[in-house]
Amino acid sequence: MTVDMVLKDGIFIENGRETVRSVAIEASKIEGVYRHGEEPQYLDSIDCRGLYILPGLIDIHVHLRDLKESDKEDYETGTMAAAAGGVTTVVDMPNSNPPVLDKRTLDDKISRAHELSYVNVGFYAGIPHNIDDFDVQMIRNILGLKVYPHSPLDKRTNYTRDRIRECTKLAVASGIPLLFHPDIATQKKEPENIEEFLLAHSCENEVKSVQSFIDAKIEYEARLHVCHVSCAATARLIHKNRAEDTLTAEVTPHHLFLSGGDFPHDDGVAKMLPPLRSPYDNKMLMEALCKTWAIDCVASDHAPHEKWEKAAPFLKAASGIPGLETTLPLMLTEVFEKRLTWIDYLRVCSSAPARILGLETKGILSKGYDADIVLARIQEGTIRGSNFFSKAKITPFEGRRVLARPITTIVGGVVVFDNGEFFTGPGIAGRVPVQKS
Ligand code: NCD
Ligand code: ZN
Ligand code: ZN
Ligand code: ZN
Repeated sequence: MTVDMVLKDGIFIENGRETVRSVAIEASKIEGVYRHGEEPQYLDSIDCRGLYILPGLIDIHVHLRDLKESDKEDYETGTMAAAAGGVTTVVDMPNSNPPVLDKRTLDDKISRAHELSYVNVGFYAGIPHNIDDFDVQMIRNILGLKVYPHSPLDKRTNYTRDRIRECTKLAVASGIPLLFHPDIATQKKEPENIEEFLLAHSCENEVKSVQSFIDAKIEYEARLHVCHVSCAATARLIHKNRAEDTLTAEVTPHHLFLSGGDFPHDDGVAKMLPPLRSPYDNKMLMEALCKTWAIDCVASDHAPHEKWEKAAPFLKAASGIPGLETTLPLMLTEVFEKRLTWIDYLRVCSSAPARILGLETKGILSKGYDADIVLARIQEGTIRGSNFFSKAKITPFEGRRVLARPITTIVGGVVVFDNGEFFTGPGIAGRVPVQKS
C-alpha cells in the first residue's frame, strides 16, 4: 500500500518515553506508527529527525471574535495563531458581538469560519434569556452550552439558583456539557481601585459559583465543565466532587505560571478574568492538574482585544489576553525542564480536552485517529507578542524564556503551517464546525 504521507524518524512518545518512530498518514487519518525501515511506501514525506511528533493541541476555550469585533480578531487571524501555535482544534466561545444565542448568529459564525479557517473549529452556544427560545437545531453544530453568571450574554438575565437549574436541565436534554465561567454577579458599582476589582472577582466568589453549579449538576445528573479555574480553593472543591467525567475543569497557562504580584497593573497587560492570583494558587493548580487530577486540561482562554483597550489604565482596560501562540512553548518547557511528564503533557494538552467534549477521533496520536499533528523542537527562545499571528500582540508572557517551538502543523493530514509560513490558503484544511463523533 502507498500512503499519502510519512513523517519519518521523529521523536515519538511511547508509554511516556521518547523513542524514534515514523507516522504514516492516509486519507486524513493516522494510518500507523512504524519503526525505522518498516514504513509503508508514500507519496510525500517529511524528515522529522530531531523533531518531536506530537498530537496537535486541542484548545477548548478560545474567543475568535469576528463579526462586529473583527478589529480584535477574525477567524483567519485567530486560526493562523492556532496553527502557528501547534493548536489543531479550537472551540469558539459564544460571547461574540452579536452573541451566539440564536441559530442565525451561529450559522453566520460557522460560514465565516468555514471560509477563513486554517484549523478545526468547534462552537459553543449561550442560552437565551427566555430558555424556551433556545433553538434545538443548534445542538448538532455545538459542543456545549456556555454561561457567564457575572456578565450574562443577555443583560436581562440573572443567574439565580433557578436559572442555573434551568440551564443545567437544558444541557442534559441536549446531551451536551454545560460550561460556565465561575464567578457571581457583582454590585453594579464600578470598582474604584484594584483592591475593589479583585474583591469583586475573589476566590471566595469563584468557589461559591462552582458550588452552586455543582448543586444543580448533582440534582439533574448533568455534565458540567468549569472554565479557567484560578484558585487553590476551587481546585479543592472540584476534587471533593469529582465523579468520573461528569465534572471536568480546565486551567489556563497564565493561572499556572503567573501571579498578580509580578505585575504593576498600571495598564491592562496582565488584566483578565479571573484575575491572576498568588504563587500558592499557581502551585496548587499545577498539583490539581498533575497530582490529584482535579483539573483535567489546559485551555488558553485566548481573548484578544485591541491595543488601545489593553494600553488603557488598569480599571478601564479590557480583560483578556491572547494565548494560542504561547500554550505549546510554555507547556513543553515544563516537560523539557522536567516539571511535567510526557504522559501528563499529552493528557492535559490533547487527550483530555478531546474526551471532555466527546471528540472520539481526536487527541491521540495512534492508528485510526485524525491526523492532527504538530512537529516541535527543542529551541531556546523568548516570547515576543510582536511575532504573533493573532491581532492581539500584548501578552503578560512578553520576554519569557521558553525551550520549545512548534515547527510544522498538520491538520487532517494537510500541512498548514511550516517554518513560519502558511502552506495552504484559509478554508482548505480542518473541519468547521467540529461535531461530536
Ligand atoms: C474573556 C473575553 O475577553 O472574552 N475575557 C477574559 O478576561 N477571560 C471572557 C472570559 O473568558 O471570561
Ligand atoms: Zn525510517
Ligand atoms: Zn471566562
Ligand atoms: Zn474566555
